[in-house]
Amino acid sequence: MMKATAIAPANIAFIKYWGKKDDALRIPSNPSISMNLSAAITTTTVEFLEGLKKDVITFLPENCTFFPRPREKGAHTMTENEAARISHFLDLIRKRANISLRAKVVTQNTFPKGTGIASSASGFAALALAASRAVGLVLSEKELTILARMGSGSACRSIPDGFVLWEAGPPAGGSLDTSYAYSLFSYTHWDLRDIVVIVTEEEKNISSTGGMADVETSPLWQKRQKEVSERIEEVKDALARKDIVLLGETIEEDCLSMHEVMQTQQPPLVYWTEETRQVIDLTRSMLTNGIPVYFTIDAGPNVHLICEAKDEGRVLDKLKDREVAKRLIINKPAAGTRIIKEHLF
Ligand code: DP6
Repeated sequence: MMKATAIAPANIAFIKYWGKKDDALRIPSNPSISMNLSAAITTTTVEFLEGLKKDVITFLPENCTFFPRPREKGAHTMTENEAARISHFLDLIRKRANISLRAKVVTQNTFPKGTGIASSASGFAALALAASRAVGLVLSEKELTILARMGSGSACRSIPDGFVLWEAGPPAGGSLDTSYAYSLFSYTHWDLRDIVVIVTEEEKNISSTGGMADVETSPLWQKRQKEVSERIEEVKDALARKDIVLLGETIEEDCLSMHEVMQTQQPPLVYWTEETRQVIDLTRSMLTNGIPVYFTIDAGPNVHLICEAKDEGRVLDKLKDREVAKRLIINKPAAGTRIIKEHLF
């Protein structure tokens, strides 16, 4: 039977990926570092079957593991673009396995779209492992990160365990194998929290892929490129020494630098809202009042608060009863992508 199921965590970038030096191969302009998220998981079953004329892809309704559950939206309906992107990715695997069979794909997230967590990372990581295993390819972790990267850049960081570095490869770029991801530390290394503060459940209207294409039009882009390698070393050092102040200050700096670039691109990309600012201010006031908690934001208005497990209670206490925090998703560091025996169909 050519069938397999994988589960994959989403991840939050501590040092951001924003810009590619090769669009087709999804080779990033700079290295990035992330943490896998325990409460934001995708499960995907893939079966290659005789007699299918095209790939049949189904998103099951979200199986949310956190409360209160978001308003019911039913299953996410897939756009033609999304279906084409998935089929194109499956073509890479068919080519490698030298088969032409089409696949049935069923996938389910524990988190809905519009919660400030990118589903493309966990989605393509789970798809890469499930589909390659279904056709009988046994890839090394490194090979799997390279394959997942071809689906969505950030997906390669969801393959290895815990805290992950994604290498950009040499400056010239263009080589498939030099840009891969590996674990810096296991998920058990440091008991951090990523508390995602959902300020809106509206879906963003500009995809990361689209937004990233214009990155070089920002006058701040070159400056960011020069600074990033130093921040990579600082985050590695902060993780190694479990230094929350160094980690927090560096990830805030990197987040602000990415959003400055986004906001000065042509056309400008402004993901923040008034609510985003309110959560940033609230985080700052917690810090001023002695709670070591820091923010980071991806391509959307929702805010990820990073703190140590011992401070989770105090942070949650400050967030409770705040109207701006519509919903919270509490993540611990998580293991990487793996095969499971239970299939979705
Ligand atoms: C802002 O990985 O979604 O979340 O490779 O085009 O699919 P594509 O982009 P994607 O970009 C993620 C951008 C980010 C920062 C990050 O996760 O590093």
